[in-house]
Amino acid sequence: MTGAAAPLGVYIHWPYCARICPYCDFNVVRDRGRSAAGEALVEAIAADLTAQAALMRASNAEGFELVSIYLGGGTPSLMHPAHVRRLVDLVRSLWSASGQVEVTLEANPADADPSSFEAFASAGINRLSLGVQSFDDEALRFLKRDHDAAQAARALDLALAAFPRVSLDLIYALPDQTPHGWRRSLQAAAGLGATHVSAYQLTLEPGTPFARAARRGTLARIDADLGAEFYDVTVDTLSDAGFEPYEVSNFARGERARSRHNLVYWRGESYVGAGPGAHGRLLLEGRRTATEAERSIGAYMTRVGRQGTGWGRQEPMAAADALEERILMGLRISDGVELADIARLGRTGALAPLVQDGWLTADAGRVRTTRAGRLLLDSVTGALLA
Ligand SMILES: C[S@@+](CC[C@H](N)C(=O)[O-])C[C@H]1O[C@@H](n2cnc3c(N)ncnc32)[C@H](O)[C@@H]1O
Ligand code: SF4
Repeated sequence: MTGAAAPLGVYIHWPYCARICPYCDFNVVRDRGRSAAGEALVEAIAADLTAQAALMRASNAEGFELVSIYLGGGTPSLMHPAHVRRLVDLVRSLWSASGQVEVTLEANPADADPSSFEAFASAGINRLSLGVQSFDDEALRFLKRDHDAAQAARALDLALAAFPRVSLDLIYALPDQTPHGWRRSLQAAAGLGATHVSAYQLTLEPGTPFARAARRGTLARIDADLGAEFYDVTVDTLSDAGFEPYEVSNFARGERARSRHNLVYWRGESYVGAGPGAHGRLLLEGRRTATEAERSIGAYMTRVGRQGTGWGRQEPMAAADALEERILMGLRISDGVELADIARLGRTGALAPLVQDGWLTADAGRVRTTRAGRLLLDSVTGALLA
């Protein structure tokens, strides 16, 4: 590679959770005390990262520059801080960085504790993503979370004291929630000092207890119009509180508060994925390559032992597929995508009617989704890329 170094993110998946939430379809298992003693998995992740760095170096990767490390899950706040330090230090030694590296840890409010937050901060975490989900006790009971609203607020206070940047995850459009009640929750959340909010509409993921309950008729589904009303309330309330909707579900107070890590995904940049089930997108032998680690913890560790990386799948992407993925992801963010990319894919003809109908704008060489288009993003991108 020549020219400026390309940004690189590193995602590390920690699969353990104290309890499994009834709406969640992430790659997770019950912790049963295994996280704290998770040395073997930490060392497998370390070996996987080291093997991926060696492959990148052998292939092309002198020109990459680390911009973000993200420990997600699962519940990485169950990890021992020494294990977090081990992985953060290792990643920093494997890839060089010239600027500040964003280092995020996902945390559950039930794990909030001044001494562990301090230990995570001194292990190198400079951004905490706190899964509060709601500041309303009824909503938290419905979601079967193991914290209440008071614990959520306390966790946020502790996080703000320990980390320079804090993000909140919230879930909305619950069956008994009203747009008015959601607005009040958002106003409360916005007043508490976080500079970043991820607000997700509740999705009934196939195979989860919530999806089964919806099929049985014991959990009400939100219709599309009400979903749109909730979304409008989200964007209006957070915008009024000074948050910019820089992605469909993500809101930041100022550009520096944006998630650099998620921008790696949305901009189609490169990322390493390590840990059970983690996905990556790497430049190997000059081709963008999709990687996917073995999902089960045992299979992952075995694979790392035999192969070096934990990859169960490793597939060079066709140039058109890589471009299509970049457009799909890029239309999620307010920066949008380059018009030239759409032309390269031969889809300029599909653009004009979508612009005419008010779903997209095309201006100064960039294509962006309008607010109305964001609500129908899947249909809009479907029509554009079909
Ligand atoms: C990987 S999860 C984990 C974070 C952390 N373990 C927690 O639960 O707080 C990241 C976020 O995805 C969101 N999420 C997970 N399942 C969801 C669903 N079915 N619908 C909407 N949001 C969901 C939640 O807001 C959650 O905080
Ligand atoms: S929502 Fe978070 S805590 Fe709940 S099962 Fe999923 S990853 Fe674990």
